[in-house]
Amino acid sequence: MKWNSRIIELINIKYPLIMGAFGGWGKAKFASCFSNAGGLGVIAALNFPDFKDFKNDLLLMNELTSKPYGINLSLPHHNLQLNDNRKNQEKTKERYLRYVEIALNLGINVFTTSGYRADFVGRRVHDSGALWVHKCVLIKHALSAEKLGADAITLVGLEGTGFKNPTTQTTLINITNAKKQLKIPIIAAGGIGDANGFLSALLMGADAVCLGTALMETEECPVPDKIKQKWLSSNIFHSSFYNKIYNYNVKNFMAPSTAIGHNDRILSLGDFIKNLIENAENRLKSLGFSKDSVYIS
Ligand SMILES: Cc1cc2nc3c(=O)[nH]c(=O)nc-3n(C[C@H](O)[C@H](O)[C@H](O)COP(=O)(O)O)c2cc1C
Repeated sequence: MKWNSRIIELINIKYPLIMGAFGGWGKAKFASCFSNAGGLGVIAALNFPDFKDFKNDLLLMNELTSKPYGINLSLPHHNLQLNDNRKNQEKTKERYLRYVEIALNLGINVFTTSGYRADFVGRRVHDSGALWVHKCVLIKHALSAEKLGADAITLVGLEGTGFKNPTTQTTLINITNAKKQLKIPIIAAGGIGDANGFLSALLMGADAVCLGTALMETEECPVPDKIKQKWLSSNIFHSSFYNKIYNYNVKNFMAPSTAIGHNDRILSLGDFIKNLIENAENRLKSLGFSKDSVYIS
């Protein structure tokens, strides 16, 4: 089945799948497997405090995949908060723009930002004709980013891991409402890890899905097997597990979300995506869909 959506057309990928930004792990070896499997692999620039290492990782990525991939720049609020002194703000911005320059010089044309006050990145990226995809957790921030020119929005629901706002809504509420309010394409994130969740997010109005936690149990995710095994046997329905995710607490930033519960064994990233897509296609067929191509809109 051929998959199509506004995000597929914009980014030129095979499936409507975007890799989450991974602090610590979002590097070429991992991200290239996602791109090679038909989605958009993402390298998180802040994993490389040294710009030379960043450039080398992009060069490695170019050896490992010929498919599109993106760069993430996360902007946690403590870096750019309004009351930080102006000199520090400017220094931080300069640093982020160095990452952008390095990536642009190597021909990368998809930049994802997450967090706060990312429009300076968006403007620079647009000056070079590249795409700016902004990730946030509130529809009001998504609307601001749209006004500031973002080409697409990733909206993370309460189910997702990562930074939250105390008023963060669920993926269901976020995406169905964002679909009514935003004109630009929407990428759904938060708690998605199997074919049913993937299809549901698309039916809610998303143009693509962003996977984070679900990828943590794949072979290529650079986490020791012992930890992956522990996650596989986690009880996601126990409050000690899900409270870490559903409560707003920056300390739990890297805790896996309940999306971890969709996996029952460790697969290669390629097989994980292959299964997800095959199961989604079978599900569509079981609902009576008989065409060779699907356009999500
Ligand atoms: C280990 C880990 C590290 C992450 N690091 C970042 C990061 O540095 N920046 C960011 O914007 N999001 C980060 N995220 C969040 C993901 O990009 C994505 O938004 C989130 O995982 C989606 O929800 P899910 O985990 O339920 O799929 C991270 C997620 C995980 C699991």
